[in-house]
Amino acid sequence: MTDRVMIFDTTLRDGEQSPGASMTIAEKLMLAEQLERLRVDVIEAGFPISSDGDFESVRSIAEKVRTLTVAGLARAAKGDIDRCWEALKGAAKPRIHIFLATSDIHLEHKLRKTRDEVLEMAREAVAYARTLCPEVEFSAEDATRSDLAYLSKVAEAVIDAGASVVNIPDTVGYTAPSEYTARVRHLFDHVPNIGKAVVSVHCHDDLGMAVANSLAAVQGGARQVECTVNGIGERAGNASLEEIVMALKTRRDLFGVECGVQTEEIFASSNMVTNLTGVIVQPNKAVVGKNAFAHESGIHQDGVLKAKQTYEIMRPEDVGIKENHLVMGKHSGRHALRQRYEEMGFNLSDAELDKAYVLLKKVADKKKEVYDDDLVIIVRDALHVTPSVYKVKNIQSIAGNQVIATATILLEKDGVLLKDSATGSGPVDAMLKAVDRITGIEGKLIDYTVRAITHGKDAVGEVFMKVNFGKAAFIGKAASLDVVEASARAYVDAVNKSIHYQMALDAHRNR
Ligand code: KIV
Ligand code: ZN
Repeated sequence: MTDRVMIFDTTLRDGEQSPGASMTIAEKLMLAEQLERLRVDVIEAGFPISSDGDFESVRSIAEKVRTLTVAGLARAAKGDIDRCWEALKGAAKPRIHIFLATSDIHLEHKLRKTRDEVLEMAREAVAYARTLCPEVEFSAEDATRSDLAYLSKVAEAVIDAGASVVNIPDTVGYTAPSEYTARVRHLFDHVPNIGKAVVSVHCHDDLGMAVANSLAAVQGGARQVECTVNGIGERAGNASLEEIVMALKTRRDLFGVECGVQTEEIFASSNMVTNLTGVIVQPNKAVVGKNAFAHESGIHQDGVLKAKQTYEIMRPEDVGIKENHLVMGKHSGRHALRQRYEEMGFNLSDAELDKAYVLLKKVADKKKEVYDDDLVIIVRDALHVTPSVYKVKNIQSIAGNQVIATATILLEKDGVLLKDSATGSGPVDAMLKAVDRITGIEGKLIDYTVRAITHGKDAVGEVFMKVNFGKAAFIGKAASLDVVEASARAYVDAVNKSIHYQMALDAHRNR
């Protein structure tokens, strides 16, 4: 048994599986590149048969990412496997990931098949996938509620058919650590050919035990852990990548295994996932929460000042958290800005730097102190990956407890200025209605979050919104000192994404 644990990141598939709340293909590519810097072993890029958009993103990621294994998900059916391979075949290291339920509950109510039939389907699917792809993973969905003897039989059959990874997911977040360790050990003791495959685990957090269960499985011999950045995922989420990796590293004495993750990239990855999905990390979240390294109590502060190890088991810099420097101001030059961005890991082209510099001046005009946090927001705007179909030029709003909230917005499209006004239940509502009147596209706001991302009363507010446009929902985001302006820009961002999505789909269909 190797003492290295492979980290299989499924942020782009299980993490983003909730229907509609999709990242654009460009955003998924951006995250895939960050996962490369994070040096996970495998990224699951999507479920190609589930939609044309998913197919396209798996295909683009497979082509772009050269250093990691890129996996695509498929059910145990020829059509799924063919589509998955079609998307993956350009990858340097492709992996088809087939899943099929093995619990009696799923067999009886969902698949309506006997154990023998499912065993045969699993064997056939893996054998067929192996004729296409050199690496095949098999997941026994709902493995933790499956009969152990039957699960062992399925594992043996799929390994015989050519699977090199056998995953035993806790699909519904039901198991507990000691039970999961025992289940993994049982496979090692009862599956004769288990030595030919890597045993993998995949945990959901319904009972808050996903990370503990994953680590318990490692103690039982599992050597691949499937997880997501920030623990995002369906329902209560998946096991959190950063918690697993830092537990393995911090308690190497206990777990005795290594993983190849570049932990200094954890914080950047966490921020990117928050920014792209709009799912904000709770302040007390282990490893990446805002307070994860903040010592408030006097006794703790005193101890940390005397010797960090009194209360600190990990160093913030180990996960890539840097001091929030006061970096820029009104009089900072372009050269200093470029240099600071380079220190922060952004290599901007001249055109991008020009945009960032204009935005910096705007922010610096309004607030005296510009922090790294502000620079990240600025660069995100400057590097904006979604082509702007509509651009916000000006906004004006009137609100108060004695007036009807009214908003006016001036947008630009293809050099043409378009202006309209609307009333609403508040200034943001009025603003979004004014945008709808111009674009003729009606979006339904399904989620709206504002958070202060810098310090003080003049903090920059960041707005995330999820907007449903009928066929799909998109996340819009923007930051500004003015929340109504940030809301208007976030909404227009979502509108642009929906237009872009439609254009990409049309282009794809007309190929
Ligand atoms: O939770 C689960 O069982 C899954 C499988 C597809 C691996 O996500
Ligand atoms: Zn899952």
